[in-house]
Amino acid sequence: MTENIVWHSRTVSKAQKQAHKGHKPVLLWYTGLSGSGKSTIANAVEARLFELGCHTYLLDGDNVRLGLNKGLTFSDEDRVENIRRISEVAKLFVDAGVIVSTAFISPFKQDREQARKLMEEGEFIEVFVDTPLEVCESRDPKGLYKKARAGEIPNFTGIDSIFDIPTRPELHLKTAEQSVKQCAEKVIKYLQQQQIIT
Ligand code: PPS
Repeated sequence: MTENIVWHSRTVSKAQKQAHKGHKPVLLWYTGLSGSGKSTIANAVEARLFELGCHTYLLDGDNVRLGLNKGLTFSDEDRVENIRRISEVAKLFVDAGVIVSTAFISPFKQDREQARKLMEEGEFIEVFVDTPLEVCESRDPKGLYKKARAGEIPNFTGIDSIFDIPTRPELHLKTAEQSVKQCAEKVIKYLQQQQIIT
């Protein structure tokens, strides 16, 4: 299907955009179970980056599934397509010089690795929001675990659909042990240490 389609290079480079913005463009890829705190932490980090004058964008699970990825289900096949599209969109944002955050369960290691491969060296930062299933289930902010346990939601991550534990994430956040503020600070510190932001 890609026959007769030719990639065009652009006049304004990513490096030029970076110089203009004063920070490096990266992709903060939050991954974790439903209710783990991905969105909450990603929002807290984005708010802090905004205060620091960074150009940011947050792609968030439910919102993207209500728009761009409307119609995709939670079958393995559709989850793969969900993450593939999000990875491509994130790449466009990084290309535009933005610090982009994505907050999706992204349960399959292979898809996360595929997203990493789309980026240049150092641009992909996997953030494992590591919250035990019992804790997510006790939080149950949307009442979905209750429904899943009652058999009302099939293929629910952690119940009857798998989550591949990240083995070498750049950042490992344990939300049962640290507050949202502490987790967000850890991300900001990492970005400073890597000289992505100053
Ligand atoms: S995935 O696996 O990355 O494609 O999922 P994602 O796009 O992040 O969507 C996760 C949110 O959808 C709600 N939801 C479900 N999650 C898991 N499994 C099933 N079957 C399911 N059905 C609906 C749930 O609210 C997730 O939101 P978060 O923010 O992760 O809690």
